[in-house]
Order: sequence, then structure tokens, then C-alpha cells
Amino acid sequence: MAKSSVLFVCSACGSTTSKWSGRCEACGEWNTISEERPATAGPPSKSLKPARGRTVPLTDLAHAEPPPPRTSSALSELDRVLGGGLVPGSAILVGGDPGIGKSTLLLQGAAAFAAAGLSVVYVSGEEASAQVRMRAERLGLSGAKVRLAAETNLRDILATLDAERPDLVIVDSIQTMWADNVDSAPGSVSQVRAAAHELTSFAKARGSAVMMVGHVTKDGQIAGPRVVEHMVDTVLYFEGERGHQFRILRAVKNRFGPADEIGVFEMTGMGLAEVANPSALFLSERGAPAPGSVVFAGIEGTRPVLCELQALVAPTPQAQPRRTVVGWDGGRLAMILAVLEARCGIPFAGLDVYLNVAGGMKISEPAADLAVAAALLSAREDSALPAETVVFGEISLSGALRPVAQTENRLKEARKLGFTAAIAPRGGKAGDASGLSLTEVGDLAAFVGDIFGA
Ligand code: TYD
Ligand code: MG
Repeated sequence: MAKSSVLFVCSACGSTTSKWSGRCEACGEWNTISEERPATAGPPSKSLKPARGRTVPLTDLAHAEPPPPRTSSALSELDRVLGGGLVPGSAILVGGDPGIGKSTLLLQGAAAFAAAGLSVVYVSGEEASAQVRMRAERLGLSGAKVRLAAETNLRDILATLDAERPDLVIVDSIQTMWADNVDSAPGSVSQVRAAAHELTSFAKARGSAVMMVGHVTKDGQIAGPRVVEHMVDTVLYFEGERGHQFRILRAVKNRFGPADEIGVFEMTGMGLAEVANPSALFLSERGAPAPGSVVFAGIEGTRPVLCELQALVAPTPQAQPRRTVVGWDGGRLAMILAVLEARCGIPFAGLDVYLNVAGGMKISEPAADLAVAAALLSAREDSALPAETVVFGEISLSGALRPVAQTENRLKEARKLGFTAAIAPRGGKAGDASGLSLTEVGDLAAFVGDIFGA
């Protein structure tokens, strides 16, 4: 039988075809198809002998040993994002822009878990061992009980790991790993998929936790096939703005904990420092109450986080005014502008609109709708909101305000940080809001009337 020697693989969804096309038939993405050579049969990997496809009765599992407990480290922000510590045998992918601090985070994580009693191997495919050691010295971790390997050949790495059986393996990065039975360049879709698959299987078969660094493409996704994100148990993104020291580690998928949990760090000259109270940090640069500035009481994962939204509205001669958003969804901004216009009669035509979440934070909660509307109105009317007020609530297309989850926690956090007033949708479970003057509003038009007297 004739064997085709090349395959065309979509880098977005991982589907394969026998001929090239500009658009992937499976997922509809453009310009994602590239040519790859399929894996040759080659000698089978000797390092892994996963259990055959045997079945066990479900009831047997109940009598099996309880799962080993999670390991907590001294890096409690990392533990939090992992869902409360490291789970043995879990496969974790950490993505982020180049230079954001992934290697620093994972080296500090390696040292922290080593100090907690785990045996840790750090495999660097990007830097020589000497460079990793220099970084460790800079971080004050030169005494950490972490074993290093500078290696990119997957078969060699797996052989070493099989012999050493560490509790935690860190692979920096998955794009540099190279499987010799796959005939394409490191970093290609087939290579990344093969490396992620082998390392994930290793984690499952041997009970070692594996953390892999994944580079991201310019549109912010982990480079390589999407399937890698499905293979692993946990996907974390390390984010931050270039000009800011704040770094946010965000769980976007976690089989062992809540998704959307965040850990907050600050990049210092001595590595990453944990930020125990992110609200205080995000609000630290806030000056006197100014038009366009609103404090939003949000929830990130399991904890409340307050942050400042800033809006600027300026007249423009352009027929197409600008809509620029940093840290929030542009589509959602367009929706709020449309609702303000259609339901409250406040047009933004002929006005440029800029919206920014201060401190490099990214918000995805719809609960920020009302805070965004408040910032836009405050900027447009050039009038500051009452001082020491937090705002939250979801806006529907009809202009009605919908109550949001965890109202009580948001109010408590606001009170803890010295705020004295809150504006929220009617019908939220405010619980004990003592100490805060709570204004409950039913719809956006009433809010505009109450606050701006329009
Ligand atoms: P790095 O961890 O190498 O990023 P990544 O692995 O995501 O590419 O971090 C690189 C940046 O962090 C670099 O610009 C220098 C800065 N940095 C500090 O500010 N302080 C430090 O202690 C360290 C180790 C790095
Ligand atoms: Mg790095």
C-alpha cells in the first residue's frame, strides 16, 4: 500500500488532511495549515509501559488507596491557582508571552516544592544549566534541592525521568522538545503534540506531576495544536503588562480546582514576590476621585478583587470614532455603548472612547458592565462619582440590571479596603452590608438619573 509521506496539519485544531488548503475544513480557521511529516513507526519508546487497555470495576476504585494528598508549597499564590496545592500525576501547561517571567516562576516553584519535600527535576531546553544556576543565584535559591538537565531530546529526557522518578518535573519549554520518531522541526505542531502526549502519559503512568512551559503566539494562544490544552489537566496563563511589575497567573482550565482562579505576583529584582492583597495593589495608584475613574468590585476565582476602571471620552472629527479597550472585551464595550444610547438616550457618536483596566489586570466578568457604564458616563459628563464608592452589576440589552453572584463577598472586600458606599443591582444577596451605604438600582436609566441627574 502506498504510504503518503507528508501530511497537512491545522495548528488551530490539530486535524490532518492530505492536501494543503488556505482554510481548515475542520475548524474554519484561515492560514493555519502547514506541512508535516507523520511520525515514523521507529523503535517504540522503551521508557513508558503504560497499563494495557484493561478495565477495572468502578467499585474497586472506592477501595483503592485514597489519592495522595496535594502538596502545598511556600508559594501560596501558585498553590491557590493549582486548586490548593500540587496534585501528584497531574499535567500542567503554563503559557505566557516571552519575557513575562515563566522560567522565573517555575524555578521559584521548583525550589518551593523541593523545600516542601518533593524531588524535583527542572529540564531546560532553552537555557544551559549554568544559566539556570545563575538565575537561581539571583533569586537566592542556589541552595535549592532541584536537579537540573539541559536537554531537548524527549527520549533521553524520559529515560532519565524513568530512572530518577521525581515527584515533579518542569519542562521549559514544550516547543523546544524534540521527539526523534517525528520527522519535523521542534516547535511544529506534530512535535509539540508528541512531546505533550509523551510527557502527559509519563505523568499518568508514573504519578509524577509535570509542568510544561508553552510559548504563546502573537494572538495570545499557546503555540501548537489546540489539542495540547485538551490533553493536560490544568492550563495556566501568566499575564502582565510590559510596563508594570504586576504578574497574574490565571487558571483557564483545571481538573483539580476552580477555573478562573488567579494568583498575583510582583516582578522584583529578586524574582517574583507574592501579593497577598491584590485589591490594595490594584488600587494603590489611584489618586483623588477623577472623572472617568470607577472602582469595580470583581470576583476572580474564589476571591474578591477590586480594581480601577478608567475611561476617557473625547470629541473627534472622524466619521468612525475610536473604541480602544485595554483589559476588557471590546465587543462588550460596544454593547454597553449601544444600550446607553438606545435605552438612556445618551449618544457616543462623534466621541472617541478609551477604556482601561488599571494595573494590567484583565477582566472577563459581565459583572463589570455597570462599572464600565459608570466610567463612560462619568468621563462623558466630566463629573466624578461620589468618593469611596464601588460599582458592580450586569447590564442586559433591555437596559435592566441583573444581580451578580457573590454580592456579599464583593461588599465585604470593599468595606475591608475602606470604601463607604456601593452601587449594585436590585435583588442581589447583599447579606450583611453594614458599614457600607448600599444603593440598589433596577435599571440603567434609573442609575443615570440617580447618579448623574440626567
Ligand atoms: P523569564 O522568567 O526569563 O521570562 P520567560 O521565561 O517568560 O521568557 O523572565 C525574564 C524577565 O524577568 C527579564 O526581562 C528579567 C526579569 N527578571 C526580573 O526582573 N527579576 C528577576 O529576578 C528575574 C530572574 C528576571
Ligand atoms: Mg523562559
